[in-house]
Amino acid sequence: MNLFAFLSLLTAVRAAVVPLAAASQHFHSPVPLDAVPQGKNITINGVLTYVTLPKENFDPTIAVLLLTDVFGLPSPDNLVLADQWAAAGFATYAPDYLNGDALPTDGNITTWIVNHGEAQTTPPLLAVVSALKARGVKQIATTGYCFGGLYTIRLVQNNTIAVGTTAHPSSLTVPADFELVKAQSHVPIEINNGELDTVFTPALAAEADDVLGDGQYPPGYFRREFDGVGHGFAVRANASDPVAVAAKQGAFDTSLAFIKRHLK
Ligand SMILES: *[C@@H]1O[C@H](CO)[C@@H](O)[C@H](O)[C@H]1NC(C)=O
Ligand SMILES: *[C@@H]1O[C@H](CO)[C@@H](O)[C@H](O)[C@H]1NC(C)=O
Ligand SMILES: *[C@@H]1O[C@H](CO)[C@@H](O)[C@H](O)[C@H]1NC(C)=O
Ligand SMILES: *[C@@H]1O[C@H](CO)[C@@H](O)[C@H](O)[C@H]1NC(C)=O
Repeated sequence: MNLFAFLSLLTAVRAAVVPLAAASQHFHSPVPLDAVPQGKNITINGVLTYVTLPKENFDPTIAVLLLTDVFGLPSPDNLVLADQWAAAGFATYAPDYLNGDALPTDGNITTWIVNHGEAQTTPPLLAVVSALKARGVKQIATTGYCFGGLYTIRLVQNNTIAVGTTAHPSSLTVPADFELVKAQSHVPIEINNGELDTVFTPALAAEADDVLGDGQYPPGYFRREFDGVGHGFAVRANASDPVAVAAKQGAFDTSLAFIKRHLK
């Protein structure tokens, strides 16, 4: 049985732990041919962090915290995505919360994940969050993709940030993680998901609506589903496929609008 079949079985048995997608499930496009990462790697509180700043003046009390997928900072897709947030006007920080050990594109996620649980991932993440706050950042907007979706939800649950958005999250326990949001958070949350995602399926996404939708979560909740795209669509797109390109841009625009609406 391959990993994905195994995880699907696990999901069925445990009624909805969103599995991680195997590396082969992530579609690797050529990096947008003309896009060269604009930011710099800086060590913040001991953690390597890709920092990318707007070209114009920006509000230093606001930061976007971008939580990458399993391919981390070595993936140019993630750096270029961070640059897109900077171009929208936000100082943007993508911490290496994978501890210098991102999954290679041909890596084995079963063996990799053993060393990338919450115990390993949370300390570097929170080290960067507290350093940003110590430097005068008053509002953090988090945008997390795949693996980063779990940590976005954790930061929302823990009321650590001002607003959270996620695309095709993995590793969540559904609906428990959304119930925990409802029970203890005052942080607005937005979710982008793909119609063809076999990891965070439309059925699991609908369970988030059951818990948080229809005004049940006063801080703010919005979900948008994108047709014709699967897991990973908000991070990388086949440049020759107009549906994929539009969905990637649409996910960005939707998260950006939600964040702007909910920052003070
Ligand atoms: C930042 O660090 C990552 C991981 O080591 C590396 O792959 C990437 O090329 C670096 N980016 C820049 C702009 O230095
Ligand atoms: C990944 O590693 C696991 C555990 O060591 C192994 O069972 C599995 O066959 C490996 N998968 C691939 C595709 O090599
Ligand atoms: C959130 O809080 C829980 C419970 O205290 C803790 O176990 C977890 O590490 C925290 N996670 C983050 C990302 O803050
Ligand atoms: C990218 O999209 C084009 C147009 O739909 C398609 O012909 C091509 O096979 C796709 N490439 C990959 C690697 O999926």
